[in-house]
Amino acid sequence: MKKMVITIDGPAASGKSTISYLLAQRCGFNHLSTGIFYRALSYYMIKKNLSEEYFLDILETLQIDMVFPDKVKVEEFIIEESLLHSMDISNMASRIAKIEKVRDFLLGIQRKIIGRGNIVADGRDVGTVVYPDADFKFFLTASSSERARRRLLELGLPIDRFDEIRKEIEERDKRDKLRDVAPLIPAYDAYIIDSTYRTKEEVVDMMYSIITRGI
Ligand code: DC
Repeated sequence: MKKMVITIDGPAASGKSTISYLLAQRCGFNHLSTGIFYRALSYYMIKKNLSEEYFLDILETLQIDMVFPDKVKVEEFIIEESLLHSMDISNMASRIAKIEKVRDFLLGIQRKIIGRGNIVADGRDVGTVVYPDADFKFFLTASSSERARRRLLELGLPIDRFDEIRKEIEERDKRDKLRDVAPLIPAYDAYIIDSTYRTKEEVVDMMYSIITRGI
């Protein structure tokens, strides 16, 4: 049987990592959160104490690959995904994700790994830029209030931070949609799913039934 590629894109805190992990389990596929590569390069930069200029010079010589299910390899480092969510790595990842040379380099790597097939890959531009030939593309959204509510729960923050977090999410949405490089927009042929009033199980069920009906 042909190896299948499923992509899930969507804004920050839309739940795409959780949903794509659950959908991958349901399909018996690997799961890839493409943000992991931006994070792994940031980890490497920080560990090696590289300046941005030097890092960009040597970027194309770096060996990077996934070690499924949950590790990524950059040169001599095999890094657990769970180590890649600290604040300094998140900030550096968001910074280098805006650099065209970094995006171009990671494009080839992501295509190679996703092309091995039987994978659910999530990110911001996977269905539009990285793998437009995917068999099924989803774009997951939720209202900014719902995403702020989920973020508060996830980070264990008090309810009085709600307005601040919602505003942050709305500003990030605006930046992501308006950026020149790989703006956050649904692929023309993506199924758009709003998860505001749906549980994660309901969202996964919806996707799974779209896939099984469409095969
Ligand atoms: O999804 P994440 O938070 O792990 O992503 C880390 C960073 O990488 C984040 O700043 C967005 C960026 N990113 C991107 O620009 N394009 C992708 N396909 C995936 C992530």
